[in-house]
Amino acid sequence: MCGIVGYIGKRDVAPLLLEGLQRLEYRGYDSAGVVITSPKATGLKMVKAKGRVRDLEARVPKRFTGTTGIAHTRWATHGAPSDENAHPHLDADNKVAVVHNGIIDNASELRAKLIADGVEFLSETDTEVLTHLIARSDAEKLEDRVREALRHIEGTYGIAVLHADFNDRIVVARNGSPVVLGIGEKEMFVASDVAALVSHTRQVVTLDDGEMATIKADDYRTYTTEGSRTTASPTTVEWEAESYDMGGHDTYMHKEIFEQADAVDRVLRGRIDDRFSTVHLGGLNLDAHDARKVRRVKILGCGTSYHAGMIGAQMIEELARIPADAEPASEFRYRNAVVDPDTLYVAVSQSGETYDVLAAVQELKRKGARVFGIVNVVGSAIAREADAGVYVHAGPEVCVVSTKCFTNTTVAFALLALHLGRIRDLSVSDGKRIIAGLRQLPAQIEQMLEREDEIKKLAQEFAEAKSMLFIGRVRGYPVAREASLKLKEVSYIHAEAYPASELKHGPLALIEPALPTVAIVPDDDLLEKNRAALEEIKARSGKILAVAHQEQEKADHTIVVPKNENELDPILMGIPLQLLAYHTALALGRDIDKPRNLAKSVTVE
Ligand code: M6R
Repeated sequence: MCGIVGYIGKRDVAPLLLEGLQRLEYRGYDSAGVVITSPKATGLKMVKAKGRVRDLEARVPKRFTGTTGIAHTRWATHGAPSDENAHPHLDADNKVAVVHNGIIDNASELRAKLIADGVEFLSETDTEVLTHLIARSDAEKLEDRVREALRHIEGTYGIAVLHADFNDRIVVARNGSPVVLGIGEKEMFVASDVAALVSHTRQVVTLDDGEMATIKADDYRTYTTEGSRTTASPTTVEWEAESYDMGGHDTYMHKEIFEQADAVDRVLRGRIDDRFSTVHLGGLNLDAHDARKVRRVKILGCGTSYHAGMIGAQMIEELARIPADAEPASEFRYRNAVVDPDTLYVAVSQSGETYDVLAAVQELKRKGARVFGIVNVVGSAIAREADAGVYVHAGPEVCVVSTKCFTNTTVAFALLALHLGRIRDLSVSDGKRIIAGLRQLPAQIEQMLEREDEIKKLAQEFAEAKSMLFIGRVRGYPVAREASLKLKEVSYIHAEAYPASELKHGPLALIEPALPTVAIVPDDDLLEKNRAALEEIKARSGKILAVAHQEQEKADHTIVVPKNENELDPILMGIPLQLLAYHTALALGRDIDKPRNLAKSVTVE
């Protein structure tokens, strides 16, 4: 999705902005642009290009110097990807430049009014209306011009504005799309994502919705869109610039799969309480009294986070004996759900920006619900909107395809389930058992990743498949769903996940040698039932890859996974299938870190 980066200071701005844009590339985009000025300049200089940041870089002329600028990567919503539709957008006098993330809902209405007033539009974007509205204001200060323009806007925005007549400042505003200020030594940065500025400063101020800021080289001021001053103190970003580097791997996906043992170690660190066989979740703000009143848990997330939520719901039911279920936030927000005061709502999101999840949280809060967040990005919109929550501490995830955040989110759910369980009926010995299981996870992950070569060989075979079936039962089903999503998004091979118990109700009709089945077969009370499903597939000449705790006779190949506690097994069983998806995509020559049509953070509807 779109990305913003801006700088004001003494350094040559164009290379800084281009570097910032490169760091935002992982979010997904189709065009990019940059506009610059400097205190002595009389106007703005702009370059835009459809395509990648390197295409933009190729167009930047030699004498493109300045010390202030804003830049953007665009993900097309209004108007196709093109040079004209790329941001920044300028007014007719080339004085006002705007970059914008989000969607202006009343853009067509505003555009029609402006055209009727004689304004000529150069692009099809919603953003351009904002540029003209700012340009038409005759307020004395730039801040007031922006404020006046924003009064006409309905929708979401994170914006940065540069004005040739006010070239000592950048004005930014946020409503539903992140804006972060980076505080440097006599220089300031602005970005929609800390990834763009963390190589220069780790001191950041995250704006709230309805907040604006003016940044100058040696100063910043924050205030509401109504004009009242706000106090926003800088915080230190815990992620370092190196965490965004590839670290010797060929792709971020590979790097992130191999970071999982360390990542799991981080989500556990400091949280286990051996004395009471439970865990401390500092951000939860839920005392034992309140926790006992929870009658139901409803988990909301999208894509991979939804699948982690499905695993979490089962853990909560098993360990805490509280009825729990997960639902795609994208569905929940549209179905006028009954909001129950005794239900604990849990919003799950790696980025903390996914609009469908954020909208569900806002709707829930509007109806008086208590919402917890399970989020990776500290200070993100969902983390801020939720009443309390747990960070998953996976570190930055750059690949569009989520891997380590999935695993850490499932571990965070195990912690939540254990916490709720130990307040209710989970025994001390079961608490101890789960804690021992959690502690084994990092080493077991390492063990599993050592089998990469075996999985790579299998992937060569699977790369020839046109379609694949993933099956699992109860604990194995969400694992199958996630593995199927992983494969399809990165390799573009069609994949479908089904509960193994449902095979005979339809999907058996598909079984034939050309449709491989990946079966999740944990060593639990359902082992024999799962084996029966493998028999059924084999009897119809289906090819089977089993992910199991022991060799499966009916399978053509078994990836043997280390056994943990039954409740925690789903955390580990998906990991070899991340590698399978990765190597299948590699064999097919796919763009692994940026699969087609997908974005890392889906910040629009
Ligand atoms: O940032 P979030 O966890 O809220 O993102 C939700 C989904 O968009 C995301 O998990 C998506 O399904 C990924 N591409 C999965 O790999």
